[in-house]
Amino acid sequence: MPAGDLLLRPWQPSDLPAVRTAYTDPDIRRWHCRTMTDDEAHAWLTAWPRRWQAETAAGWAVTDPTGVLGQISLREIDLTEGQGEVSYWVLPAARGRHVAARALTALTTWSFQQAGLHRVWLRHSTANPASCRVARRAGLPAEGTNRGAARHADGWHDMHLHARLRTDS
Ligand SMILES: CC(C)(COP(=O)(O)OP(=O)(O)OC[C@H]1O[C@@H](n2cnc3c(N)ncnc32)[C@H](O)[C@@H]1OP(=O)(O)O)[C@@H](O)C(=O)NCCC(=O)NCCS
Repeated sequence: MPAGDLLLRPWQPSDLPAVRTAYTDPDIRRWHCRTMTDDEAHAWLTAWPRRWQAETAAGWAVTDPTGVLGQISLREIDLTEGQGEVSYWVLPAARGRHVAARALTALTTWSFQQAGLHRVWLRHSTANPASCRVARRAGLPAEGTNRGAARHADGWHDMHLHARLRTDS
């Protein structure tokens, strides 16, 4: 899936070092609420084809000619309700170029035009303003705040809900 000068492509076994590196970043660990060993990174990478075939989730490596810059995924797909929940991270060295917003714009377009979804949504902690900017720039306005809706390492966080509908102009 092209996104300007970015390419969203399926994960490959050779991407394991990039995934391991990502989860050494304190911000990715904090906001995705996990660490990742080599075995867990292998399991994470190899789960995507199974999840795609089951039509429950879909994940892409966000790349440019230099390699993997980040990830974006529909971490939960509900085809009955026509909805998908997005997750993303960008490697620290690739930040500052709106990589996530560009990838999210491409994924949202694909979700409506190819996957037939009606609503694409995401949540981020109210303590994570960078993710709020990503969602707004990609055309997913804030709908409200879910109080105490996600447990992080330091406790319960209020979560901003953002979404875009296929019918939004
Ligand atoms: C959120 C994340 C994906 C954004 O990466 P990116 O695409 O490189 O984003 P950029 O650095 O280009 O910044 C995007 C916007 O956020 C703003 N921003 C970046 N860091 C910020 C911070 N610490 N506080 C406030 N705003 C910030 C930028 O100024 C920019 O704003 P703009 O759209 O008005 O120009 C990246 O920071 C990341 O991976 N963070 C850790 C994991 C994470 O938070 N994932 C999302 C969980 S919901």
